[in-house]
Amino acid sequence: MKTVLVNLKDNPYKIIIGHGILPQLGAALKSLKMGRDAVIITQPVIRRWHGPALAAGLTRNGFTVKFFEVPDGEKSKSTKVAMQLLEKIARYDTQKDIFIIALGGGVVGDLAGFVAAIYKRAIPYVQVPTTLLAQVDSAIGGKTAVDLPVGKNLVGVIYQPKIVWSDVGTLKTLPDRAYRNGFAEIIKYGVIRDRKLFNYVGRNSAQLLSRKSVALTKVVVRCSQIKAEVVKADEKETKGIRTILNFGHTAGHALEAASGYRFFHGEAVAWGMVVAAEVSQRMGLLHKKDFTALRRVLTDFGLLEKNPSHTKMINLSGILKHMQHDKKFIAGRNRFVLATKIGAVQVMEGVPGKIIEQAIRAGL
Ligand SMILES: NC(=O)c1ccc[n+]([C@@H]2O[C@H](COP(=O)([O-])OP(=O)(O)OC[C@H]3O[C@@H](n4cnc5c(N)ncnc54)[C@H](O)[C@@H]3O)[C@@H](O)[C@H]2O)c1
Ligand SMILES: [Zn+2]
Repeated sequence: MKTVLVNLKDNPYKIIIGHGILPQLGAALKSLKMGRDAVIITQPVIRRWHGPALAAGLTRNGFTVKFFEVPDGEKSKSTKVAMQLLEKIARYDTQKDIFIIALGGGVVGDLAGFVAAIYKRAIPYVQVPTTLLAQVDSAIGGKTAVDLPVGKNLVGVIYQPKIVWSDVGTLKTLPDRAYRNGFAEIIKYGVIRDRKLFNYVGRNSAQLLSRKSVALTKVVVRCSQIKAEVVKADEKETKGIRTILNFGHTAGHALEAASGYRFFHGEAVAWGMVVAAEVSQRMGLLHKKDFTALRRVLTDFGLLEKNPSHTKMINLSGILKHMQHDKKFIAGRNRFVLATKIGAVQVMEGVPGKIIEQAIRAGL
């Protein structure tokens, strides 16, 4: 087991990473004194695969366990599903001492974290991420949210978990496309902060794609450290530091939306990183060989594959329209996170529209 500390001033917590560690969460929670009655929010398929191991460890350590399932997919990140959950929890919560466990990917994590934040003006919760994206990104940092019909993540708060419990063994049951999706964020961490990580991922793609736990643990640990550092430096995203995590997300979010969410987040971000790197290159910031290295590693993880049914739906004007709506595109003056080399980025405002257009065209 490896430990990464998210060393926040007010509510520091640990990220524990290991293989086959789900049954040990129960013992770890005893010393955290969070409550006695565990409410596990999850999805049916995740409960089938991983619910029993988690529940067994909890009951062995004296906790009661209650599962609440929500349907698969982004549509569960809605105010409606959140309200239904709150009502179920409230009906269940009589003479109990409850806390919440989010067992799942980013959808479950964002939703369960939000519910924990608003139920009885906040009760403790634990993140047990079961997708690669959630282990390296969404489970860390306390961003919780649900969507509104007009846009993603519009209702939410920053509310930190008491612990993040990342069992890389749970990733073995992820469908292939969902698994590869997580590598976009991993490669992103390499580009923004850590050339060594970037090179490691590039050299070990075969090990990683076959889900070998040694390589996976190494990568999840390093990404957790980077995310923890960035969150510590700018927890509430007020200092412009957390912004660097948005590398590839400006164009990426626009593509995700323009495709009607047919692209997975990681696939859209992979393409968005190519666009951002293309802009960086055209602005004279990034060397061509770094640009080529980025494309190569994204291709190795199958993240730049062009699916005809996807590309048919997207066009330049649709993407540009969505970019104008992006909250990171501040008031007319766009804002881009640009790479200066593999391992370093800078935030730039007012990139000429023509360069953005050319970069999107080149990337499509
Ligand atoms: N809070 C943050 O900081 C943050 C950061 C990035 C993304 N997000 C959010 O995360 C969400 C995407 O998360 P995601 O990519 O994890 O998708 P997801 O939660 O939808 O999970 C993907 C699919 O995998 C299934 N699944 C999960 N774990 C499994 C396992 N171990 N075995 C088999 N199947 C499993 C899920 O049921 C789902 O069908 C988006 O809503 C996004 O907005 C949040
Ligand atoms: Zn992302």
